[in-house]
Amino acid sequence: MSYAIIGSGAIGGALAKQFARSKIKAVVANRRGPASLKGELQAFEPTVSAAAISDALNADVIILATPFGATSDVAQLRNDWSGKIVVDATNAIEFPAFKPMDLGGRPSSQVLSAQFKGAKVVKAFNTLPAAVLADEPRQGKSSRTLFVSGDHADANEKIASLVTSLGFYPITLGSLGEGGLLQQFGGPLVLHSLIHESL
Ligand SMILES: NC(=O)c1ccc[n+]([C@@H]2O[C@H](COP(=O)([O-])OP(=O)(O)OC[C@H]3O[C@@H](n4cnc5c(N)ncnc54)[C@H](OP(=O)(O)O)[C@@H]3O)[C@@H](O)[C@H]2O)c1
Repeated sequence: MSYAIIGSGAIGGALAKQFARSKIKAVVANRRGPASLKGELQAFEPTVSAAAISDALNADVIILATPFGATSDVAQLRNDWSGKIVVDATNAIEFPAFKPMDLGGRPSSQVLSAQFKGAKVVKAFNTLPAAVLADEPRQGKSSRTLFVSGDHADANEKIASLVTSLGFYPITLGSLGEGGLLQQFGGPLVLHSLIHESL
């Protein structure tokens, strides 16, 4: 599997650090282009490197670490997302009120999924503050938990496997309409940093 992270801010940077730490190859893209990432990614190269968005979208798995409102810009870059797993790490937040965006009662990942025709969308990496996501996920035999939700069991499994490879403990919750709602901003699982204790 090949991996791309779209967005190089707090969450994109945290993920870049975890991919590099786990020696899993990935590319990172943002709006400003690869030259803007030279310094930021230097410590993670060559495992994690900068790419133009157009090149990053060739990856099998595309992790969206942009503002929720920017995902439609990314979606418009392709007509057909068949064969891709798109991982939704966003939180749909209305600023400056810092409250869940009014999406007419629809789970935010379902709204996002409708933009990426043909993709298998999985929600993951959105529940922890960026600084916690960037932190070492393992303490002895214990690992920090990340949640995974999506409508396609095969894609959920692949992302749960990635979560494990990155050193976290995955809990797969079910569909975007069920687990996605629990995981999304305003849901009960946001900001819970849970530790899985291996006995
Ligand atoms: N920060 C947290 O603790 C946290 C925790 C959980 C979830 N989240 C969610 O994760 C997402 C990212 O948050 P963040 O804090 O990492 O944001 P951020 O620091 O502001 O970074 C946003 C990144 O998205 C890129 N971007 C914006 N519009 C884009 C577009 N149209 N096309 C491509 N790239 C675009 C920006 O590119 P440039 O660098 O070129 O401007 C930037 O690299 C948000 O949905 C947020 O709600 C954040």
